[in-house]
Amino acid sequence: MKTLLTEEQLRQGIERMAEDIRKHYDGRPLTIVGVLTGSVVLLADLIRRLDMPLRVGLIQAQSCSVDPNRPGPLALDVGLLACDVQGRHVLLVDDIFDTGRTLWEVVPEFDNLGAKSVHTAVLLKKQGRAEVSMQPDFAAFEIPNEFVVGYGMDYRDRYRNLPYVAALEPNERAEE
Ligand code: IMP
Ligand code: MG
Repeated sequence: MKTLLTEEQLRQGIERMAEDIRKHYDGRPLTIVGVLTGSVVLLADLIRRLDMPLRVGLIQAQSCSVDPNRPGPLALDVGLLACDVQGRHVLLVDDIFDTGRTLWEVVPEFDNLGAKSVHTAVLLKKQGRAEVSMQPDFAAFEIPNEFVVGYGMDYRDRYRNLPYVAALEPNERAEE
């Protein structure tokens, strides 16, 4: 496993992204919606750097696939969303923008729920992987196409608790 982003680099990147988000919303009330499970660490760090009136919601979006290289159809659960997003500015927060399919499917759901605006923020954007025409509105870092773990991100539900971001070697991905 090799470290890609240290704790200090993460802190600085998230502060930069929070500054962009503060400027964009300019004090307007915001509903931040974290996409479970990978976004939880970013969500916790990001909301403490925002000072507008803020609500927080969570949704579950999971690719129904056993092979992490080939995502299956997306199962979306907005039932966890405790707050009403009607007429609200919504910022969807996810860990990674890889092919982009997850956020591309989630954004229209929030349009349908009557959100006033829907934007997206991610910790990482993988270079050259997008399969959809949208881009994340805010991204703390761009990374090469490697499989990464830590800071909320997992490989088979492990490593989410690492305080840094690391790239897994191919042999580490074969292990059970
Ligand atoms: P997308 O729909 O292809 O953009 O994939 C986004 C989701 O795939 C992310 O929310 C992650 O859950 C997962 N994912 C993609 N790449 C990685 C990775 O390198 N490590 C861990 N999870 C990943
Ligand atoms: Mg995810």
